[in-house]
Amino acid sequence: MRKKRPKIITGLDIGTTKVCAILGQIDDDGQLSILGVGSNPSLGLKKGMVVDIEATVDSIQKAVRKAEQMAGVSVKEVYVGIAGGHITSQNSKGTVEVQNPIRGVTEQDRQRALERAKDYIKLPKDVEIIHAIPQEFVVDGQPGIKNPVGMSGTTLEARVHLVMAAITSASNIVRCISQAGLRTCNILLESLASSLAILGDNEKDLGVALIDIGGGTSDVGIFAGGSVKFSGVIPLGGDSITNDVAYGLKISRYDAENIKKKYASALVDSVGPDEVLEISDVLKGAANQVSRRFLCEITEARLEQIFMMAKQMIDASPVKNKIYGGVVLTGGTSLMHGIAELAERIFEMPAKVGMPQGLKGLSGVVSSPIYSTGIGLVLYGLTNQPLNPHYYSNGNVFRKLSYNFKKLLDWYLWE
Ligand SMILES: Nc1ncnc2c1ncn2[C@@H]1O[C@H](COP(=O)(O)OP(=O)(O)OP(=O)(O)O)[C@@H](O)[C@H]1O
Ligand SMILES: [Mg+2]
Repeated sequence: MRKKRPKIITGLDIGTTKVCAILGQIDDDGQLSILGVGSNPSLGLKKGMVVDIEATVDSIQKAVRKAEQMAGVSVKEVYVGIAGGHITSQNSKGTVEVQNPIRGVTEQDRQRALERAKDYIKLPKDVEIIHAIPQEFVVDGQPGIKNPVGMSGTTLEARVHLVMAAITSASNIVRCISQAGLRTCNILLESLASSLAILGDNEKDLGVALIDIGGGTSDVGIFAGGSVKFSGVIPLGGDSITNDVAYGLKISRYDAENIKKKYASALVDSVGPDEVLEISDVLKGAANQVSRRFLCEITEARLEQIFMMAKQMIDASPVKNKIYGGVVLTGGTSLMHGIAELAERIFEMPAKVGMPQGLKGLSGVVSSPIYSTGIGLVLYGLTNQPLNPHYYSNGNVFRKLSYNFKKLLDWYLWE
């Protein structure tokens, strides 16, 4: 019998600085193989949210076209990420009577309990639940159950992690993708996508805080006991650092971006007092000498602020004492020299930079923290829902998506 071709999945990371399309498939040996990568500057987003549809559509089309050319296939549908300061999260629970205690808990009971957990919280009119991720179930008072279906019991409680997003923000993403001639298979919170690409099961079990510091946002996720327990988004990232450098050194944003990537450090103390940089002064039109320590004072101060905000979020979460594995940093800004050391100082726990690993195909291209979200979106589309998210809807974009989500569950890797 002829073997069926593996399914090719496209992850589309619409970031604040770049739009990136990644095509991947699972090879015979079970490893993810990258077939195509297309990246294009993103001009239509601010702080993780679409502010210019036309510019975003253009960036999507260009990024997808590049990835298509590289892979030699045409893309019709994508898995896309969502972020932005409008993202909030909350844990909730819902209890239902098991309909037929003799037969035991059914899938319908499980779904009703999850729905009840969703109804438990009051939502503002313009906000929608995008993920309701089961944490555990409690059957007749017995906690810690991963899948209650088939168990005997009379009451079932679902404990879930709910992620909320502004309705307009999510529909703008779907609109851009549709205007680019593509279909949205599913939307995933960007920090959850990145976690799929870089966190191992052992880390998620032990407890880690994942911080994806991109250009416009820093996405925070806490994982413990095998699943996500907290998620939040800070509307600051590498772009703020670039702006600070441009302002502080009186240079263009373009030059500031280059100087930041080349010479900046998250640790002022790692730079000697005599180190000097030659930069062109926009106002005087001549070369200017700047102390490298001054540059690093700017970058350290802004990163410190971002980490302090992340720390406040983590400290305010009910799972702050469950982070035994430390902090994992990813996203483009995690390439900054000394960033893990600064994180260790502020969070007072071990920290490291995480990037996609163990890939085949064009692995060299995507083995960077810049691609964590994109790779995670591919994995999300390929794997059989390790996060087990549920899209509930009040009648807008996520209702339309729920059909695709159900289809996703039925997908096989070898179609
Ligand atoms: N070597 C480097 N050192 C410091 N910063 C870097 C380096 N390389 C890239 N960056 C920064 O990383 C940021 C882009 O990261 P990334 O590609 O993860 O963002 P994004 O996904 O487009 O944005 P977001 O996720 O916030 O919407 C930019 O601010 C860029 O300046
Ligand atoms: Mg990003």
